Amino acid sequence: MLDLSNQLPFAQGYNRLCYEHPLDSARCLKIVRPENIAARAQRQSRLKQLLGTNRLNDNTQEIIAHNQHAIRELLATGLENLVWAHLPRFYGRVQTSLGEANDSELIRRADGSVAPTLETVMQDHGLTPELEKGIGEFLDWLKQTRILTRNLLPHNLVVTDRSGRSQLFLVDGLGAPTIPRALASVPGWSSHYLDRKIDRFRKRLAWEQHSEGLSWEDFQRLR
Ligand SMILES: Nc1ncnc2c1ncn2[C@@H]1O[C@H](COP(=O)(O)OP(=O)(O)OP(=O)(O)O)[C@@H](O)[C@H]1O
Ligand SMILES: [Mg+2]
Repeated sequence: MLDLSNQLPFAQGYNRLCYEHPLDSARCLKIVRPENIAARAQRQSRLKQLLGTNRLNDNTQEIIAHNQHAIRELLATGLENLVWAHLPRFYGRVQTSLGEANDSELIRRADGSVAPTLETVMQDHGLTPELEKGIGEFLDWLKQTRILTRNLLPHNLVVTDRSGRSQLFLVDGLGAPTIPRALASVPGWSSHYLDRKIDRFRKRLAWEQHSEGLSWEDFQRLR
């Protein structure tokens, strides 16, 4: 079992705490915040409560998401490097002193620091041509691989310069739980789904830059 008792998380989201792997600084361990699952379970209907909390566990959902058709096919045909070009390498579930964790590649910058999110980079430097290029490459990769994601959010992408240019990695939000499994591999369906995700992401980037005082919900409705 991996001991995390002497460590503080290097980052956290609404659902999970992120720790550096105690034996490998190139990996991170994500632990679901227990209070979060409990709170979400309480808001569910009685029927959904009976179906269990696995559906609410982001780590379980992430494992299912990595098992999606597009990723399995690419790995089976030896296109590993393509899969991990914009996705942290994924090592599955491990036991820690804080409970089960998902083990994945910790994306760092060339100087060794943890890569910042796209949200932070945009706040600090705006949407520079260099960053635009990185975003374009990431979206081309999505279209090429047909890897399915949830809504793309700037705080779930990190930006690294480790290869000498700006590269985006999706650290959270893989998978498409709303698409029935059988449809996910039908090209027409997945393209349509992806186009909508990309449109929404572009809109989100526009909002991050000039929200004009509008909430994200109002901005989407009015634009
Ligand atoms: N592989 C990684 N490499 C570098 N930083 C990471 C990585 N994974 C997560 N992070 C950082 O930790 C933060 C939280 O991680 P993550 O998004 O997985 O948590 P979450 O609780 O599931 O998020 P949300 O609030 O979107 O549900 C990210 O926004 C990012 O800053
Ligand atoms: Mg997140």
